[in-house]
Amino acid sequence: MDNTDKKDCLISCLTTRRQFLFLSGAATATIMLTGIPGLGAKEVQAVVSKYPRVKIGKLSALKQDMPVAFTYPTKDIRNILVKLGTPAGGGVGSNNDVVAFNPVCTHMGGPMETAYKAEYKILGQCPFHQSTFDLTRHGMIISGHATESLPQILLETEGDDIYAAGVIGLVFGRNSNV
Ligand code: FES
Repeated sequence: MDNTDKKDCLISCLTTRRQFLFLSGAATATIMLTGIPGLGAKEVQAVVSKYPRVKIGKLSALKQDMPVAFTYPTKDIRNILVKLGTPAGGGVGSNNDVVAFNPVCTHMGGPMETAYKAEYKILGQCPFHQSTFDLTRHGMIISGHATESLPQILLETEGDDIYAAGVIGLVFGRNSNV
């Protein structure tokens, strides 16, 4: 498989389920894939399921590498909000380093809410089959059995307030984000 084939496969793998979400009426947003050896940068259209904006925290209250939990878009879906200390895809705040993800493994639902590794800015390893996800690159899978990125919570800010405004990807175990 040459680099062109790898790139096509990667884009396809990252967009398959998001394209499904598009069919259920979601909006799209552009994300940038970077830092993949031999592939360069590539813009792809991610599909965002939009929900009512909900205030989930304050920038000034976050401590670097100390994730905090919140629920969104429904009360039974727990996510983590974390200030990485390094710019990240989809990050908000003055350093674009505040991100949020659903921490349920996209492979078979392994729980990773407490699996943040500050040294590498990753979530994992998943306790079931050791998948790990890069929180600086939209939750992209970097090792293990999963084939889908972690669902990323779309964040917005207004002054010091942080709002959740949508979900990029599908939370494990659901056939839609609604
Ligand atoms: S459930 Fe996480 S790697 Fe299988």
